[in-house]
Amino acid sequence: MKVTCMEIGSMPDLQYLILVKTNIETWIFKMKMPYLSKEELKAKIDSLPRINIALLPTPLQEAHRLSEKLGVRILIKREDLTGLAMGGNKVRHMDFCMADALQKGADVSLNINPWMSNNARIIGAASKMVGLDYINIAPASKFRPIQGNLLIQDIIGTDLHLLDTANHDEVNEYVDKLETKLIEQGKTVYNHVKEHMSRSSATISYMEATLEIEEQLANFNVAENLEVFVASGGAQGGLMLASQSLNLPWNVHGVIVGKPEESYADVVTWSNNALNHLGFTERLDWSDVEQLDKYIGPGYAIPGDDCIEAIRMVAELEGILLDPVYTGKVMAAVIDYARTGKFKQEDTVLFIHTGGLPELFDFADELKRRD
Ligand SMILES: Cc1ncc(COP(=O)(O)O)c(C=O)c1O
Repeated sequence: MKVTCMEIGSMPDLQYLILVKTNIETWIFKMKMPYLSKEELKAKIDSLPRINIALLPTPLQEAHRLSEKLGVRILIKREDLTGLAMGGNKVRHMDFCMADALQKGADVSLNINPWMSNNARIIGAASKMVGLDYINIAPASKFRPIQGNLLIQDIIGTDLHLLDTANHDEVNEYVDKLETKLIEQGKTVYNHVKEHMSRSSATISYMEATLEIEEQLANFNVAENLEVFVASGGAQGGLMLASQSLNLPWNVHGVIVGKPEESYADVVTWSNNALNHLGFTERLDWSDVEQLDKYIGPGYAIPGDDCIEAIRMVAELEGILLDPVYTGKVMAAVIDYARTGKFKQEDTVLFIHTGGLPELFDFADELKRRD
């Protein structure tokens, strides 16, 4: 699923679009963000309330043996090392999200996220860290083993509601009743599903991560374009918007790991909310977003053979662990691009390792090499 030249005629607002040629495959469109200096972008981000939860900067490292194997230079941004409760991209979000919750006087953090959710783990750990109670309602999770992200939520003292149903209306009714009860008890509830900053913080914090990466790249002698691979979502939006604004030669490829229609909506909605929070008037359209839908495998949270191969390859060559829900699928895309000759020899790939490591343990049967 890529935007091609065929779609020029159907674009409504051509004056807001510029046409760029990626050095990889085909034409894509990009919305025109205003050019900002690094200082100006930083000042915009610094205007938002924040606290410091993530351990930053995370390392940027050369993956020598993987690069040699795939025939293209690969750098890995270690967002798995952000610190809190086994780390990951979500920890960065908490710097902004928890500042928002505290500013709103919250004393309970309420969330809806199923068993495999890293978001649930990190929101839980961050909530506890700043002194809030944490409740997670987990749809379709009643019969799941207490392992991976569920185990960590349990250890940190989450009030976990493991529901049998995944039905949207039933889950919402359950949450509404619970929230009403809490409010009647005099609690101020920060409901992560309703609060913009809970998801927009993904885009905002990856606009900031763009500044961090750009500074680190100065030590890596990257001559040509940077081909950035990341799981499609808020981080993709942040990397796209900030790299455009700073006029960096980056192509940001979002790899879809679940339902494509949800992925598009996520990137566009969260990015536009983030732009609004930061005072930009520009808005992202779905056609501005490049998302690769070939690496989903059998479905969300179901790793295919290419994902399992990617996890084993990176572990064996670099001693770095990827996860079976997100980063394994993103690395499967990098491997496929390398094998099918889509990279030029002088390209540098930047793989954003967004974490997700607790879910390795929920997929032991799929991942172990021995019977
Ligand atoms: C490990 C991992 N990577 C990437 C993502 C995508 O996150 P976002 O939409 O915030 O970019 C998630 C979301 O749950 C995740 O857990």
